[in-house]
Amino acid sequence: MSEYLPGLEGVPATRSNISDLDGNTGILTYRGYPIEELAVNSTFEETSLLLLDGRLPTRDELAEYDNQLRSNRVVKYNVREIMKYLPATGHPMEMLQTAVASLGMFYPGDECLTGNMSCEDLNYVHNMSVKIIARMPTLVAMWEHVRNGYDPYPPRKDLTYAENLLYMFSGEDPDPAFAKIMDACLILHAEHTINASTFAALVAGSTLASPYLVIAAAVGTLAGPLHGGANQRVVEMLEEIGRPENVKSWLAEKLASKSKIWGMGHREYKVKDPRATILQKLMRELMEGRGGRIGPLFETALALEEACEEKLAPKGVYANVDFYSGILYREMGIPPDQFTSIFAVARSAGWLAHWREQLGDNRIFRPTQMYTGESKRSYVPMEMRGQSI
Ligand code: COA
Repeated sequence: MSEYLPGLEGVPATRSNISDLDGNTGILTYRGYPIEELAVNSTFEETSLLLLDGRLPTRDELAEYDNQLRSNRVVKYNVREIMKYLPATGHPMEMLQTAVASLGMFYPGDECLTGNMSCEDLNYVHNMSVKIIARMPTLVAMWEHVRNGYDPYPPRKDLTYAENLLYMFSGEDPDPAFAKIMDACLILHAEHTINASTFAALVAGSTLASPYLVIAAAVGTLAGPLHGGANQRVVEMLEEIGRPENVKSWLAEKLASKSKIWGMGHREYKVKDPRATILQKLMRELMEGRGGRIGPLFETALALEEACEEKLAPKGVYANVDFYSGILYREMGIPPDQFTSIFAVARSAGWLAHWREQLGDNRIFRPTQMYTGESKRSYVPMEMRGQSI
């Protein structure tokens, strides 16, 4: 009998050529390209196509894909009507899961998944991927206005993916510096090997569920604070700490009570997450671009990271991607409970790339278990229960 490894640590659950990471050296590549290079030189549009197709597109291919994304941003009016009936106090990730799943009801067409994949079906897979990646920001930003009782700003075709996302939140032309940072954030969050939400997407995809349900499964899995939900917790934690001078005593108390430090630790990385390094650099550049004027959260985050290194580095626990992302999003005026939704917008590209890969060589996921319950026994009639038998 095979060994049980809690959390499937170290257990390969799939073969993939989409992304790779080295947790000891802190290297992450998408289709072989280091994320440091992509974050500086690429755009989310190009990176998402790279993830889907496996190669950097030509100018014409990118232009065509970009045009497809821009043309698919609008969602059916009824989706907004559904949102109006959701409680405004609900979490945006719960809304997002509901809204993505509901999209599938308006855009059916998954019949071809049940046959053997053909070229035609690959078009379907590409078209569904475009529709979902294009509409995720619309759903997320629309909710921001619907939950506050306002009309949402319709998406704009003349803006890039990152610009349009920021525009739909504020209704104003986005600050070019913020748009550039948002684009880099989207690239950095677009893919990350087989993490919990990608695994959820693979499991759902392996049943030949529709892509909307595949993404809904992944969104629900990303929401948890041990995964994507950590970015919201990080900012709440930094606000609780307050000033950098409070860090040491706060940390000592948390570690003594065995509490989690949000944005710290990773199953795969035993060094600092390379995405955290890039996000931290972006934060510093933003700060310098404004002559050093920035909220105290960044200072507190730097102090906390330093203090954590002293205490947690021996366990291989360092800052992960969620440690600095929320601070950047907050600077852009995005409410903390929407941080994980922005993560989901970006990660939809990775989820769909894995969905496509899974369909290309599909076998339903059906692992086994080690049963630890009672051995076979006879049903006890109600009148006999509670008596010694
Ligand atoms: N704060 C404090 N201690 C932490 C920690 C954190 N954020 N992350 C890990 N550790 C400690 C654990 O307590 C454990 O210590 P022990 O060996 O003394 O019991 C050790 O490091 C190993 O952690 P473990 O829980 O086994 O790691 P995991 O691989 O199962 O979990 C995470 C990985 C990401 C779920 C975990 O690090 C975590 O909960 N981080 C905080 C949430 C977060 O930021 N998630 C986003 C990930 S991108």
